[in-house]
Amino acid sequence: TTTAVSLKDAYKNDFLIGTALNTPQIEERDPKAAALIPVQFNAVTPENCMKAENIHPQWDQYTFDLSDKLVAYAAKHNIKVNGHTLIWHSQLPQFARRIKDVDSFKTFFTNHINTVASRYKGKVFSWDVVNEALNEDGTMRKSIFLDKIGDGFVTEAFRLAEKASPGTELYYNDYNNEQPKKREGCIALVKKVQAAGVRIDGVGIQGHWHLGRVPFKDIEESILAYHALGLKVMITELDIEMLPRNFQGADVNQRQASNPALNPYANGIPDSLLQQQAADYANLFKLFLKHKDKITRVTFWGVNDGQSWLNGWPIPGRTNYPLLFDRAFNPKPAYHAVMALK
Ligand code: XIL
Repeated sequence: TTTAVSLKDAYKNDFLIGTALNTPQIEERDPKAAALIPVQFNAVTPENCMKAENIHPQWDQYTFDLSDKLVAYAAKHNIKVNGHTLIWHSQLPQFARRIKDVDSFKTFFTNHINTVASRYKGKVFSWDVVNEALNEDGTMRKSIFLDKIGDGFVTEAFRLAEKASPGTELYYNDYNNEQPKKREGCIALVKKVQAAGVRIDGVGIQGHWHLGRVPFKDIEESILAYHALGLKVMITELDIEMLPRNFQGADVNQRQASNPALNPYANGIPDSLLQQQAADYANLFKLFLKHKDKITRVTFWGVNDGQSWLNGWPIPGRTNYPLLFDRAFNPKPAYHAVMALK
C-alpha cells in the first residue's frame, strides 16, 4: 500500500486529479474546503463562473471577477485550470438566446470566444471548447449554435479558441459519450475538426454515473477509441449518483420534491451502499490506471457530498452522496478504496 497522503500524491505519476469549484471554494470562505483542496487536488474546473451566462451577461459586458480569482487561487497553489466552457447550449445568457439575426449571432460567437479565451491565455492549462453538442443517438443536438451557424460551429469554435489562446489544450466534452451510439457521433465530430486542419487535443467523458450501474466496458472501449484518434482522454465531471431512479414505485426524476419517498437517505446513507460505491470507484480507478498512458486527468464534480450539484438535480432538496468526501470533509470508504489501489 501507498505512503501517499492524498489523491494527487498517490496518482502523481499517472494523471491529474481535479475537482470543480464554486464561489465558496474559490473565495476560500470555508476553512475546511480551503485546507483540503490544495492537498488533494492538482487540477480545478470552474463549476459555473466561466459559463457564458456568468462571464458574459450582456452583449458588451463581461464579469471576470470570480474567474480571475479562480485563476489566481490556482496559480497560488500550483493547480492547473481547465476552463469550462466556451460554447454550450445551456447556461447561455438571455441576450444571446434572443439574437435573431444570423450575422449578429456569429458576431456574439466570435467575440465571446475571442474575449474569454484570450483573457486566460497562458493562465488556463486547457479549455472545454465545446460542451454537449451531441444527442444520445450521435446526431448533432438542436441548439441555437446549430440553428444559426450550422454544424460547422464546432470546428469554428476550435479554430477561434486556438487563435485566441495558442498553447492551451483544447477539448470536446460531453456526457454519455462512452455509450456506443453517442461515441460514434463524438468520433465523427472529432474527425471533422481534424479534417479541417484544426487542432483538438482531447475528449472529456463527463462521468456522471450511477451506483451499481457504471458502464465499465463502454468506458474502456471509449478510452481506446478516442486514444486511437490521437487524443488525450479525460474523465471530467466524475460522480456516482447514490439515489435510486425508482423508490417505492416513484420515479425520482419527476419533480415532486415534497414526496419524502423521493429522498430516502436524507438522514444518512446505509453503509452497504457506501461500500458498493467504494467498489464502483475502485473498479473505475483500476480501469483508469490500466490506461494511464491515455488518460491525463480525472476530475470530480465537486469537493464533498454537501457541495455536489446532485443535491439539487434533477430535483431540488435531495440529499446525495456522490463524492469521495462526506459533508464534514472526512474521507469516505470510496476514498480509502481509491487510495488502496496505490
Ligand atoms: C452544473 C453545475 O454543477 C450546477 O451547479 C449548475 O447549476 C448546472 O451545471 N454538465 C456540465 C456541467 O458540463 O457544466 C454541469 O454543471 C453538469 C452537467
